Amino acid sequence: MAPHWAGWLLAVGLWGLGFGAEMWWNLVPRKTVSSGELAPVVRRFSQTGIQDFLTLTLTEQTGLLYVGAREALFAFSVEALELQGVISWAAPAEKKTECVQKGKNNQTECFNFIRFLQPYNASHLYVCGTYAFQPKCAYIDMVTFTLEHGALEDGKGKCPYDPAKGHTGLLVDGELYSATLNNFLGTEPIILRNMGPHHPMKTEYLAFWLNEPHFVGSAYVPESVGSLTGDDDKVYFFFSERALEYNCYMEQVVARVARVCKGDVGGARTLQKKWTTFLKAHLVCSAPSRHLYLSHLQALHTLQDTSWHNTTFFAVFRARWGDVDLSAVCEYQLEEIQRVFEGPYKEYHEQSQKWGRYTDPVPSPRPGSCINSWHRHHGYTSSLELPDNTLNFIKKHPLLEEQVKPLRGRPLLVKKDTNFTHLVADRVTGLMEPPIQCCSLAQETAGYLRL
Ligand SMILES: *[C@@H]1O[C@H](CO)[C@@H](O)[C@H](O)[C@H]1NC(C)=O
Ligand SMILES: *[C@@H]1O[C@H](CO)[C@@H](O)[C@H](O)[C@H]1NC(C)=O
Ligand SMILES: *[C@@H]1O[C@H](CO)[C@@H](O)[C@H](O)[C@H]1NC(C)=O
Ligand SMILES: *[C@@H]1O[C@H](CO)[C@@H](O)[C@H](O)[C@H]1NC(C)=O
Repeated sequence: MAPHWAGWLLAVGLWGLGFGAEMWWNLVPRKTVSSGELAPVVRRFSQTGIQDFLTLTLTEQTGLLYVGAREALFAFSVEALELQGVISWAAPAEKKTECVQKGKNNQTECFNFIRFLQPYNASHLYVCGTYAFQPKCAYIDMVTFTLEHGALEDGKGKCPYDPAKGHTGLLVDGELYSATLNNFLGTEPIILRNMGPHHPMKTEYLAFWLNEPHFVGSAYVPESVGSLTGDDDKVYFFFSERALEYNCYMEQVVARVARVCKGDVGGARTLQKKWTTFLKAHLVCSAPSRHLYLSHLQALHTLQDTSWHNTTFFAVFRARWGDVDLSAVCEYQLEEIQRVFEGPYKEYHEQSQKWGRYTDPVPSPRPGSCINSWHRHHGYTSSLELPDNTLNFIKKHPLLEEQVKPLRGRPLLVKKDTNFTHLVADRVTGLMEPPIQCCSLAQETAGYLRL
């Protein structure tokens, strides 16, 4: 495949433990495998003129691997990596001309880069591309592997204009949740729910909702299943953004986790067609004893378990530490994120012009919470029925006071002179040992991390 994916390989071996060791910032895996060494067992695909293999989707329905590249899509059988189908989907010449006229690069930007590709229903995939800075989406028939060219949809808010910008999206029950930049200039960040039976839902264009975010990942957690409180399902978003709450460091970037509730349909007067359940918190990956603080999120992997309660998130962070490039991996438990989202809010104090903990009484129902049994018992059956004081409060206080700490309070791994780009985690059950989790990291090399 193209260089972008060439390094993404199977992982073998174990990282050493011992965070306290002298070489804590440069742990050496017990075994590292380079892409060259795996050449005999790795199957490769390349095709002249095709590059930027940006999206990979493995479906259970067909057992095929779908790949989205620049102006092309491919379907592969997984075992043999045999090509089963090709779709050519280029942006038309006139769109490319317009793109160039608006000052974009005809070699690197004015193409249709596939940025979203997921199963939509039993027979179709949904795909979105940048389409020379005029994003478009379409359905793909999985049986014939053909794109329904006749029914292109506007991709605004579903896909970034700029192929280089961070983006994440998820289809849940026919509704598309996307976190992207919603305009040509890339100045309008948005978390949007589109398609399906409801009207579109979005975030407010307010800097304290989203401020120059770089979106990295998202996850659907079916928290209604077996819930004793009648809770709703949630969608989580992971990104970095420029923080407003650090009064002295105006330039500070922080990592965030945000979430919305699946049943949210917005408010009736306040927050009409806007999320009433958008909450966000600071996602910490640091080793304070080493004066190491990481904030640039690079990749995310969600590890599901048999029960959603045990969902964990693995995040890759990048940093420059002195003149050294570092990559680090932190693990977060869903429980910890939930705890922070149920805690105190942060507030901008007009008088001191500083951000701090909100200490005054909080309106009821609790702002930002999903509609649950308590709400229904008190007559609030949907977000449309929430009182204005609850909605006005959440509009001004989407940020929580407490920070989401990584498991064990520190990174699982810190490695210098690397720029990890992707991460995959899986649970492996050893024959004689208790289950271990493995974590493979990629950039021309891969390794296992034993937890
Ligand atoms: C891209 O633009 C450059 C300079 O404007 C031009 O020389 C070149 O021919 C163009 N390439 C294509 C493929 O259109
Ligand atoms: C899936 O969605 C497509 C596009 O809306 C539609 O044409 C098709 O009939 C749907 N298939 C099923 C099995 O519902
Ligand atoms: C979550 O994981 C822990 C530890 O592996 C296990 O003891 C517990 O039963 C799991 N909880 C659920 C609800 O599966
Ligand atoms: C990591 O990425 C940065 C910025 O993209 C680059 O300057 C640096 O050389 C890279 N470091 C390594 C070890 O590849």
